[in-house]
Amino acid sequence: MDKETLTQAVLELKRQRRAVILAHSYQLPEVQEVADFVGDSLGLAREAQRTEAEVIVFCGVHFMAETAAILNPEKTVLLPDLEAGCSLADSIRPEDILAWKAAHPDGLVVAYVNTRAEVKALADVCVTSANAVEVVAGLPEDRPIYFVPDMFLGAHVARVTGRRLDLFPGECHVHAGIREEHLKALLEAHPGAEFLIHPECGCGSGCLYLKPDAKMLSTEGMVCYAKAAEGREFVVATEVGILHRLRKEAPGKAFFPVKPDAVCEYMKRITLEKVYLSLRDLKHVVRVPEAVAEKARRALSAMVAVG
Ligand code: 13P
Ligand code: SF4
Repeated sequence: MDKETLTQAVLELKRQRRAVILAHSYQLPEVQEVADFVGDSLGLAREAQRTEAEVIVFCGVHFMAETAAILNPEKTVLLPDLEAGCSLADSIRPEDILAWKAAHPDGLVVAYVNTRAEVKALADVCVTSANAVEVVAGLPEDRPIYFVPDMFLGAHVARVTGRRLDLFPGECHVHAGIREEHLKALLEAHPGAEFLIHPECGCGSGCLYLKPDAKMLSTEGMVCYAKAAEGREFVVATEVGILHRLRKEAPGKAFFPVKPDAVCEYMKRITLEKVYLSLRDLKHVVRVPEAVAEKARRALSAMVAVG
């Protein structure tokens, strides 16, 4: 089928199945175009919680589909490709959390949403890049805090809140690869451009040194900021899938990726054809055992309530 026929087939099946398609901002443009909602991890979790659709087709990565299944256990949550994983979520195991807890019996564990359900089940609260600062700022000051698994996001949260955090040394291979040297030439070429950076980027403090008025934002935060800003040019440090939304929702403005080959191969496993097959064959159902889901739900509910 060509792209147009496939698009129509997806929309027709979606109607028949009474399904909703949720897509992350790093998804392929044609997948974003068939979605009912495109957003960041926080927006997607909230949308999954509130939808009345019977079937949720999750166009994102596995931990996002798991989050949807945990928050809305009565729904059928489908992930079009089970290989759509996340290097960051895979970097930490439940044993890592248990070891820290044993050494810090009064400690609190803050888990970035980019974690597996078994890790979330051991956390006190989950956060996304959109609300991590606010959540951590609200935690009691007299308890040790373990922030897992993204060390760059953790360092950003520690810098902004002034809180001392124990950081797990995890990173996303896509964002860790975005470095100051990629930024330097772009800033010189576009001296009037604003700089939008995702807090997972490995260059966090180095980039802030080069551009102290940088805006550290989630993917949704970048879209909202660019739409409202008076500036016409933006240098963008994150996965390049975001450019489709930025150019579509802030037309007439120019966006320059710091690293044009910053591509998440996991996100790109979801193709329009796989979305079609997912709806046609109701595959692949993502389920989380209730014993794990029940614990993870507490940490996730605390997350969706903030920001
Ligand atoms: P956002 O929640 O900012 O969209 O980030 C999700 C993610 O996986 C970034 O790599
Ligand atoms: Fe995971 Fe990085 Fe891909 Fe985001 S961009 S889904 S953190 S591997």
